[in-house]
Amino acid sequence: MNILVTAGPTREAIDPVRFIANRSSGKMGYFTAAAAAARGHKVRLVSGPVCLPAPDGVTMTQVVSADDMLRAVRTHLSWCDVLIMAAAVADWRPADVASAKIKKTGRSMMLELVPTPDILRDIAPYKQQRLFVGFAAETSTVVAYAAAKLAAKNLDYIVANDVSQPDAGFEVDTNRAVLLGADGSREEWQLMSKRDMAERLLDVIETATPQTGGRGNC
Ligand code: PMT
Repeated sequence: MNILVTAGPTREAIDPVRFIANRSSGKMGYFTAAAAAARGHKVRLVSGPVCLPAPDGVTMTQVVSADDMLRAVRTHLSWCDVLIMAAAVADWRPADVASAKIKKTGRSMMLELVPTPDILRDIAPYKQQRLFVGFAAETSTVVAYAAAKLAAKNLDYIVANDVSQPDAGFEVDTNRAVLLGADGSREEWQLMSKRDMAERLLDVIETATPQTGGRGNC
């Protein structure tokens, strides 16, 4: 299959030296991309800024902002059979980006934030027969919030991780999640390495997707 994976945070510029971002290390998405490539799938990885080496056998596109990631996902969408959105896309960006470094005044300042594009909602009309998998990073009411995102974003599956736990979610090498399917399925995934979680996710995807050999490289 042709599998498009996103990973890492996005950075939303405030000025030439400052940005808004989040704690995503990219590990969950990179392990997923690496595991998919090791299984023989063709894999393209769209990555925000992280400190990880490119996985073997994966074609990389590096991006910075949510707008960049949206453009990259749109570019590769027609190629893929499966989209796995593990990236932690920033939900807001500064309304204006200062062209020069904002000088410190010692006084408080207000920063107006505007919403970034929601990538999954943007591409939902072009889903066709593709399988879309999202992740939900939540700190409370984890499963209910994830279920709402599964429906609102027209996903086939969502991996709900509780990012308030020190051994799961952002940065660490382990994760714990509940996988929800649009078909009403639900799997509890106890604490495991992100590498093992990537394999569990790919098992589900391969079972759910006819092995057609992919769409080629068009
Ligand atoms: O990178 P690691 O340190 O390994 O951490 C892994 C992780 C916690 C980042 C990952 O497992 C995870 O949960 N990724 C999704 C984080 C997130 O943005 O969750 P969300 O609940 O805000 O978004 C739900 C889904 O919508 C996600 O698939 C996200 O990629 C997508 N989204 C979000 C915002 C946006 N503007 N556009 C989107 O498409």
